[in-house]
Formats: sequence, C-alpha cells, structure tokens
Amino acid sequence: MRDAGRVLPRNDPRQYDDLADEWWRPDGVFAMLHWLARARAALVPPATRPGALLVDLGCGAGLLATHLAGKGYRHVGVDLTRSALAQAAAHGVTAVNGDATAVPLVDGCADVVAAGELLEHVPDWRAAVAEACRLLRPGGLLVLDTLNDTALARLVAVRVAERLPTVPRGIHDPRLFVDDRELVAECARHGVDLRVRGVRPAVPGLLRWLFRQATGAATPAGQAPRIVPTGSRAVLYQGHGVRGG
Ligand SMILES: C[S@@+](CC[C@H](N)C(=O)[O-])C[C@H]1O[C@@H](n2cnc3c(N)ncnc32)[C@H](O)[C@@H]1O
Repeated sequence: MRDAGRVLPRNDPRQYDDLADEWWRPDGVFAMLHWLARARAALVPPATRPGALLVDLGCGAGLLATHLAGKGYRHVGVDLTRSALAQAAAHGVTAVNGDATAVPLVDGCADVVAAGELLEHVPDWRAAVAEACRLLRPGGLLVLDTLNDTALARLVAVRVAERLPTVPRGIHDPRLFVDDRELVAECARHGVDLRVRGVRPAVPGLLRWLFRQATGAATPAGQAPRIVPTGSRAVLYQGHGVRGG
C-alpha cells in the first residue's frame, strides 16, 4: 500500500485512510467485510430490552449497521480511524474515536460486543479481548471473527487473497494472527465461554463473484457470496459466547 509515494508497513492503520472510498463499495477491496458483517450480524439476536447497547470494536465504516437494522440496538462503534468513523456515523453508528485496548466506556455497559476482523490487527489482541469482556454486562454476548495463527491462514489470507480483489495488499500482518485455542482460553479467563467455528465464503458464490470481478460486472443485489460454516478453523473463524454472571 502506497501513501504519497511511500510504502506503508503491513497493518499500518493509515491504509484505511487511503482506502476510505472503498468501504461501502459492495464490489470494492473491502467486499469480503460486507459478507462477514452479514454473517456476524446473524449471530446477534434481537435486543431483549429497550435501550440495549451494541459496542462494535474496530467498527471501521460501520458495515455491520445495515445488518443490525430492526434488531433494536443502539450501535456504538469504536475505531482508531477517523475517516472510517465519519462514514460509520453517516450510517447511524455513534462513533467513538479510540483504541480497542483502552475503550472510554464503562464496565458492563454493553448487551453485545462485536469485534469483526479486528483482533488480527491489534498488536496486543489480549488487551482488546479483556476490554471486550469488561464492557459486557453479565449475560451479554461477544461475537467476533478473525484469522487463525496457522501456516494455512498465512498462505490463504495473505499470499493468495492479497493477489485477489477480495483483500487489500498489505492490510494484514500475519504475525498478529490469533490462535483459536488461545483466544478461547483468554475469553474464559475474562468470564466469556467462547464457542468457535471455522467459516469461509461459499465456493459457488465466490467463483461467480470472482468471475464478475474479472469481467467488470457488478454484483446484483442479494447475490454477494455467503459466509458458511466449515469443518476447519485453520484460516478464518467466528466466535460467540456469553459472559457469565
Ligand atoms: C479489517 S477492518 C474491520 C472493520 C469492521 N469491523 C468491519 O468488519 O467492517 C479493521 C478495523 O479495525 C480498526 N483498528 C485496528 N486496530 C485498532 C485498534 N487498536 N483499536 C480500534 N480500532 C482498530 C481499523 O481502523 C479498521 O477500521
């Protein structure tokens, strides 16, 4: 990724400023984030009380917002990147500029905490997990997805995916990928019983999407690839778990 003629290091957050116009393009370089946001939102049940709060750590441009519509949450998004937060705010998210490892919100304020494609970007992912769990009220729900710390994930998500139009080049630093067993253990230490499962784009939909990309055709409404469960957590995985009392 280039910035005024310089090559930015892997995972440099300034890349999100360079790519600010891409967030809400359904066929742009963040297309897969749209697919993942839909799958993540499917794990979030409708709110059970008026005024329920969903805190979206590393919310980016608020792609989760459209998929939460009608579920009854106030959607608060926390992110380092101001250009992304401005877009999140335009989509109804209450934007908080801040670090997911030191969130300026009180303990137990959240009915749901979401951390979509965040942990693999945070040098101290354990601190972000601690914050996510701290923000949850007892009985609150943590939902997340991230990339596993495996050779296969480094191959698929970096070497292969960064050559396809689904992932921006240099956006990931594979040294930050998150081992699924360590994540489960860390959540347990903070009172959240996290269940994880592997996910991936459904192959026929992905192939159709790549073909349309190659031919310059736009994706018709409702025909974006679906994210589906898969038997292996070795690349991409989702987690959800409830904070104990
Ligand atoms: C891959 S994007 C995912 C955005 C969003 N969750 C989604 O799925 O569309 C990662 C986001 O995390 C943000 N980010 C990275 N490190 C962060 C940190 N330590 N605290 C808060 N946000 C962070 C970036 O600015 C970026 O918006």
